[in-house]
Amino acid sequence: MQEVPQDLLEAALSIIKNAYAPYSGYRVAAAVRASSGRVYRGVNVENSSYGLTVCAERVAIFNAVTEGERSIKEVLVLVERGPPAPPCGACLQVISEFGDDNTVIYSASLEGGVMKWRLKDLLPFRFGASYLRAQK
Ligand code: THU
Repeated sequence: MQEVPQDLLEAALSIIKNAYAPYSGYRVAAAVRASSGRVYRGVNVENSSYGLTVCAERVAIFNAVTEGERSIKEVLVLVERGPPAPPCGACLQVISEFGDDNTVIYSASLEGGVMKWRLKDLLPFRFGASYLRAQK
């Protein structure tokens, strides 16, 4: 069985109860480690206008950026049920903005099971700032 960093797991476990998921009933928490070593947390926040929902991973990363971080080294996703889930495509793109190919992504489920990937496994071709700067 894959191991996850205990501090990230504990950080996610401590907040998953705060997830606001009245529509899906699927609580998620995330904990990210920035290059400073500090850990930031987030939960999914749903909305009655469903498309406005923000995933736990993005909330955690936005909290990190708010505190001045610009580089994310590890991401842990904790889901309350079912198998460990990878971040959605939108969250992968946001992780990509502040991570690199080797950013580690862990997922764990309260029902058991752990997965581990690198960002390059889940998003092998990444849109990024270099494309914006490319000349014709
Ligand atoms: N969700 C996350 O927070 N992170 C994921 O990696 C997958 C999906 C949330 C969004 C929504 O509140 C609920 O899970 C169901 O999609």
